[in-house]
Amino acid sequence: MEQTMSSPSSVPRWTPSPSSTRPLRSPARLADVDDAAFFPFGSSSFTPPHLRSMGEVENGRSMDQGVFLTWEDLWVSAPGRKGGRVSILCGITGFARPGEVLAMMGPSGCGKSTLLDALAGRLASNVSQKGEILINGQKQKLAFGTSAYVTQDDVLMTTLTVREAVYYSAQLQLPDSMSRAEKRARAEATIREMGLESAMDTRIGGWASKGISGGQKRRVSICVELLTRPRLLFLDEPTSGLDSAASYHVMNRIARLARREAMTVVAVIHQPSSEVFELFHGLCLLAHGRTVFFGPPLMADEFFATNGFPCPSLSNTSDHYLRTINKDFDVDSEDGLAHKSRSTCQAIELLVRSYSASDISHGVTQQIALMRNMGGSLVKKRSQASFFTQTRVLTRRSFVNMYRDLGYYWLRFAIYVALCLCVGTIYYDVGHSFGSIQACNSYCLVLWTSLLLAYVLFLGVQARGSMLMFTAAFLTFMAIGGFPSFVEDMKIFGRERLNGHYGATAFTIANTLSAAPYLALISVVPGAMAYYLVGLQQPADHFGYFALVLFTSMMVVEGLMMIVASLVPDFLMGIITGAGIQGVMMLNGGFFRLPHDLPNPVWRYPTYYIAFHRYANQGFYKNEFLGLTFPGNVAAGGPPTITGEEILRGVWQVEVGYSKWVDLAILLAMVMLYRLMFLGVVKIAEKVKAKVNARSVRAPVLSTHDNEQSSLEIVASP
Ligand SMILES: Nc1ncnc2c1ncn2[C@@H]1O[C@H](COP(=O)(O)OP(=O)(O)O)[C@@H](O)[C@H]1O
Ligand SMILES: [Mg+2]
Repeated sequence: MEQTMSSPSSVPRWTPSPSSTRPLRSPARLADVDDAAFFPFGSSSFTPPHLRSMGEVENGRSMDQGVFLTWEDLWVSAPGRKGGRVSILCGITGFARPGEVLAMMGPSGCGKSTLLDALAGRLASNVSQKGEILINGQKQKLAFGTSAYVTQDDVLMTTLTVREAVYYSAQLQLPDSMSRAEKRARAEATIREMGLESAMDTRIGGWASKGISGGQKRRVSICVELLTRPRLLFLDEPTSGLDSAASYHVMNRIARLARREAMTVVAVIHQPSSEVFELFHGLCLLAHGRTVFFGPPLMADEFFATNGFPCPSLSNTSDHYLRTINKDFDVDSEDGLAHKSRSTCQAIELLVRSYSASDISHGVTQQIALMRNMGGSLVKKRSQASFFTQTRVLTRRSFVNMYRDLGYYWLRFAIYVALCLCVGTIYYDVGHSFGSIQACNSYCLVLWTSLLLAYVLFLGVQARGSMLMFTAAFLTFMAIGGFPSFVEDMKIFGRERLNGHYGATAFTIANTLSAAPYLALISVVPGAMAYYLVGLQQPADHFGYFALVLFTSMMVVEGLMMIVASLVPDFLMGIITGAGIQGVMMLNGGFFRLPHDLPNPVWRYPTYYIAFHRYANQGFYKNEFLGLTFPGNVAAGGPPTITGEEILRGVWQVEVGYSKWVDLAILLAMVMLYRLMFLGVVKIAEKVKAKVNARSVRAPVLSTHDNEQSSLEIVASP
């Protein structure tokens, strides 16, 4: 911008002119003052990037504590339409240094997020990467917790308030050496830094309930990652959804923090105002995966001007750059710009070539060579809260979330109460007559018409048995109801896991512990209504066993759904998959087809033994029938009485050789096993992804590497 170019280099262009009534403050004093009060002139406390020499960081911290990130000739390609590969990034080179903010800019779809993902080691498994990314001159895979990444989408726990979300996060991430009060103070200070004080006690809110605004959510996401002052911070569009003042303050505070804590910040920015633009130490301008400019922002102006694209006076420089290199709207871009005769494609081509031949580009290569040879330590995982603290905090957070999210358990609780009232009244005081164990199909018919009509018609089920089977099958089946809420939890887990906040084991234990009280409530209250209305065995220990089996079965189903959620990303697909698996298990649980009648291959071995319904049913039956005596059907020539055990053996083909407690123990083992399987799936998925990524780094990019080509459609050979 002319204004900038003509102003003395020592005075940033937003600095007010000295006047007799309002003298310029000394930078030393201003450093202590909150910039907020002076917007847009407040940045006078901020030394413009071009005035600082490399290695200078506030608070006496030396740069060698920080992260020098360099990338050279970075190519990223994704599978194309015709079996070939399409290049997303083409030979990108650049670096980011401690204490500085590097801004990535470019039209949407030009590969900014892909570059950020590549640098953070988070590329999708279908893309391949080539090129060298070094941290302090060394190749290092960014393990969980070595960098922080604020993604483009906000994934937050919607039921928590801003204060709770940030505070829980502080407890999860900050080391145990900090006291609770210190953690709370850090959380509150960070909230204030992001200007969220007024929204502190407002719930974040989601699709179901309106909470804070989109811009505020963005700032909460940033807050959570700033808590630990990470040494390497990636921000994907941190200012999207923010007004210009908020964008300025947020970026200014991030820049200040970067300087103070020697943090290396790489941020994708859309539409920075000129004040925000001045905060950047480096600018990486991309167009269609190619570098249009990489270097100090102030040099970009001269670069564009010397190549025939001077920024019109009174225009925002960053707007001008983006307008020059955005070819998405070429068709109707008859907007009277000075360079309209030149197509945008040609403009980009010209700029890309001019940049690669420029001194700036050579300077960048030299800087990178310096950083490579500088040496330095690998980035270590920062110290964190202990496993015990993490599990405790996660359990608490999850418990609060489950309490506030009506869809998690409360809706299910209400439906269980209603269903158990139905069961209780339909089978009311079922008694001990032979009829009480005689066919009572109609009830099942209503409920299972869609899935199991044929089986139900076929069966001569008895009332007591069918009531118990209904409890074991349908009430546990309903545990699927909380799946959408769990999928939301999984998304949050995914984000926090990638950022190294905690591990999969802490999450699994916490989820199990926090769910247990709700499942216990659901098994005891509605369970008791059904149990005592029907008039099943009265002693309390029998009811206790009934509630325990119901509780464990629901825990098993929840474990099953956890595994499904880790394999199937979408909640609708997950519900269908989970329901399908349970349907198959139910069919083979030994009720709809008696155990001896099940075809041996597949259905009896192994499905019958895998299905938890088998153990729940048999446990319920043993609990109910053993010890009871039923009057026999004398009219049909039968004995005067039948024992419960005879019914179990003869009618239900239950294995009475072992106690009902063994069935419960097997169910408990299943609860553990399913959770271990979930852990296994999560860990294996991580390992596989890391391996795929490692392989894709070595895989050659099939597209042409010819930077000289004129077409911007860089399509690979198959
Ligand atoms: N995993 C992927 N598979 C296929 N195409 C991808 C993948 N990731 C990104 N792309 C494509 O790369 C281009 C750049 O994407 P992105 O980096 O997200 O752009 P932006 O600059 O807006 O952040 C887009 O056209 C996108 O469709
Ligand atoms: Mg993006």
